Amino acid sequence: MIQNTKKRIFSGVQPSGNLHVGNFLGAIKQWVGMQDEYDCIFSVVDYHAITVKYDPKVLRKKIIEIAKIYIAGGVNPEKAIIFQQSDARAHTEFCWILNAVSARISDLNKMTQFKDKAGKGNVNVSVGLYDYPVLMAADILLYDTDIVPVGDDQLQHVELARDLAKRFNHDYEEIFKIPEPKIMKQGARIMSLDNPEKKMSKSAESEFSRIELLDESALAMKKIMKATTDTGAEVKFNSKEKPGISNLLTIYSLLANIDIKDLEKKYSGIMYGEFKKDLAEVVAEFLNDFQKKYNKIDDSQVAEILAAGAKKAEPIAEETLVKVKITIGVK
Ligand code: AMP
Ligand code: TRP
Repeated sequence: MIQNTKKRIFSGVQPSGNLHVGNFLGAIKQWVGMQDEYDCIFSVVDYHAITVKYDPKVLRKKIIEIAKIYIAGGVNPEKAIIFQQSDARAHTEFCWILNAVSARISDLNKMTQFKDKAGKGNVNVSVGLYDYPVLMAADILLYDTDIVPVGDDQLQHVELARDLAKRFNHDYEEIFKIPEPKIMKQGARIMSLDNPEKKMSKSAESEFSRIELLDESALAMKKIMKATTDTGAEVKFNSKEKPGISNLLTIYSLLANIDIKDLEKKYSGIMYGEFKKDLAEVVAEFLNDFQKKYNKIDDSQVAEILAAGAKKAEPIAEETLVKVKITIGVK
């Protein structure tokens, strides 16, 4: 194989729920900026999405939708590999090996996302949901990944991938690179519009908590106008005392590419309502532009891009898996 000199990036999003501006600003936007400098692999992680209740009739559509969102968001399939996780069998096979030889129950018991998602009692909670971080580690480690750009809710999972790599290297042979997480300084944690103490999430009940990337712009504008603000009247960034306004400032800043400091100056002495009206315009413009690109991409073209991506990803993953199999003694 030709030795690649660029550093490698791996990341992914699950084809579940509706992607929102938090996903875009925390993950996809940062991927786009890295495409030239890095060798990028972005996966639609469908085997992660089936760990919670889902509808098999819509999953396939969602897989295509996510890939389209990557592309409309600026991921260029000529530069980056875009592929569907279940197309590369090495992921689940390697996950099993990691389960058996490197992952510990005590590691997984620490995972806060599992605790949040499973709730109390663990009734009807799948083993897959519990094991999800090990599959994610397999995703990352199979590609000799240097950097994993994610939102801050995924940091603990990337740390687990690092721990498993180190443990494997220690117990067997030094075959894994230790990947670094990359979290944006701004945008890593976009908060919910109706409750700025919580992160914006695909699964929150109220749709007024998030701006979805495929929202009609009129609805998105309404959501911004209804967003919770704070007491006081100043448009100033202070995430502790003014979480609502600070979150809106972050969204504004990232979508319009204007520094928060400059926004504070622009809106000094101006009421929340006026600020929100302007932000609603910025959001509408972003969505219109994004959706114009999204609607131009046809589904069959995306299916081809995913198939071509799998053809490139599979041999890389397979090569690592063979190395692992030899190392653990089954081959
Ligand atoms: P998920 O929605 O869990 O599939 O997450 C996909 C990607 O979006 C991951 O990198 C997450 O860390 C990121 N992400 C999800 N929610 C947010 C949020 N509210 N703010 C910033 N990034 C997020
Ligand atoms: N667990 C991630 C999320 O929900 C998605 C994911 C799966 C991922 N495998 C990955 C992200 C590998 C980065 C690298 O957001």
